[in-house]
Amino acid sequence: MTPSSTGPERLSGVTAIILAAGVGSRMGAAEPKVLHPLLGRPMALWVLESIHTVASDPAILLLSPATAALHALAPKGTLRAEQPEPRGTGDAVRCAIPVLPVGATEILIACGDTPLLEPSTISALIAARRAAKVPLALAAFHAEDPTGYGRVELNDAGRATRIIEERDASPETRESDLVNAGLYVVERAWLETALKGLVASKATGEIYLTDLVAAAAAAGSPAPILLGSGADLEGVNDRRQFADAAAALRERINAGHMERGVGMVDPTTIWIDPTVEIAADVTIEPNVMISGATAIGARSCIESGSRIHQSQIGEGCTVRSSDISESRLRDGAEVGPFAHIRPGCDIGAGAHVGNYAELKATILGARVKVGHHSYLGDTTVGEAANIGAGTITANYDGVAKHATSIGAGAFTGIGTLIVAPLSMGAKSKTGAGTVLLEDLPDGALAVGVPARIITGRE
Ligand code: UD1
Ligand code: MG
Repeated sequence: MTPSSTGPERLSGVTAIILAAGVGSRMGAAEPKVLHPLLGRPMALWVLESIHTVASDPAILLLSPATAALHALAPKGTLRAEQPEPRGTGDAVRCAIPVLPVGATEILIACGDTPLLEPSTISALIAARRAAKVPLALAAFHAEDPTGYGRVELNDAGRATRIIEERDASPETRESDLVNAGLYVVERAWLETALKGLVASKATGEIYLTDLVAAAAAAGSPAPILLGSGADLEGVNDRRQFADAAAALRERINAGHMERGVGMVDPTTIWIDPTVEIAADVTIEPNVMISGATAIGARSCIESGSRIHQSQIGEGCTVRSSDISESRLRDGAEVGPFAHIRPGCDIGAGAHVGNYAELKATILGARVKVGHHSYLGDTTVGEAANIGAGTITANYDGVAKHATSIGAGAFTGIGTLIVAPLSMGAKSKTGAGTVLLEDLPDGALAVGVPARIITGRE
């Protein structure tokens, strides 16, 4: 998803409050619901991102002590307010009032658990309130399964007169599928006064924000509703809804990539974070996860079963069923199947890392081959070197990590064990099963256990 700050017609004077201080007990998780990541981004920050494409003023994240960590993950400039205890959505908005900027005249209130919210819905709701010239407007939709939502009661003119929470609803009211989306636009002055009049529910002790709707109706201004589609207004309260939201976001992201020319045969099994950039003409096979600030260059192919995190993949690369993290592949590099590229690796142009190889903080020059079953840690390998099957760098002596350097054009025999710190010269070689304990000059050959060094030969 592109950052929103480039949007041409963003509104000013509209300040959003995103309610994210709830416990989210229906998720059954220790971590508060609004922090749960959907494609790498905490749920409430999807809402913030969407609002940001519509309104230019900084939004307010309303947080609890348990969700305070969200603020550090939000875009710079995001404001914060704290609700010390989860005493209901009405109390939550009260807690945000002192943080409202002086110039804020219109307040958008959104729930941090509606991650699918589309910017077009937000703009339409703002427009609806302005057109109706009333203090409050809200979004509603017909839910396929209305369980858990507040039901919206309408008057003959189709305006909302009351919201009845499910727990307070009669069986008859529960039959209604017209539900409150939890998205409101309110005139600031009216909001501040009306909030003071809210009283706690006798049943739960919570102060319901939804009681503002009855307050507006009682004051002669029943709220217009923006009838949206459930597709972007559904709330996430439990694990099933969480999975549904994740799938919807995945589809949205993948559709965007396909429109830009990325090939996917089965987008239902491909999970790409909104922070990932993929060039046209990249092919992504089924069962792939790509996360973090990753970029993938044109004509690369990410084959089935790969996981790539926070990495730069060049043009024309192939990644086969491999795990790559915080690393770089230069153009034409090939990795896998079943390779593990751990943080800090830089795989040279046209290099090949084969099956069951593990690399950590290792730099491979162009055209290096690490074909099979090797472990290279803290190692630099010069151009076109060939690392034989089962070559292992013993880079850790139990106390510290040590570096290995392997020169350009070097060749390690099968099962070579390199005890770091150590340097193998350019075009040096080791025989099969060599245990190398000391530096090898350019062009030298080492054989045996421990290695006997034969110089002057290639
Ligand atoms: C709320 C609405 C309901 C609506 C639904 C839409 C109320 C009383 N009910 O119900 O009418 O249909 O959203 O999804 O508003 N939160 C706080 N502080 C609190 C309580 C909640 O910040 O003290 C936050 C939560 O983190 C969450 C949002 O407010 O992001 C909504 O709270 P939640 O408990 O999910 O309310 P619902 O039962 O879904
Ligand atoms: Mg909810």
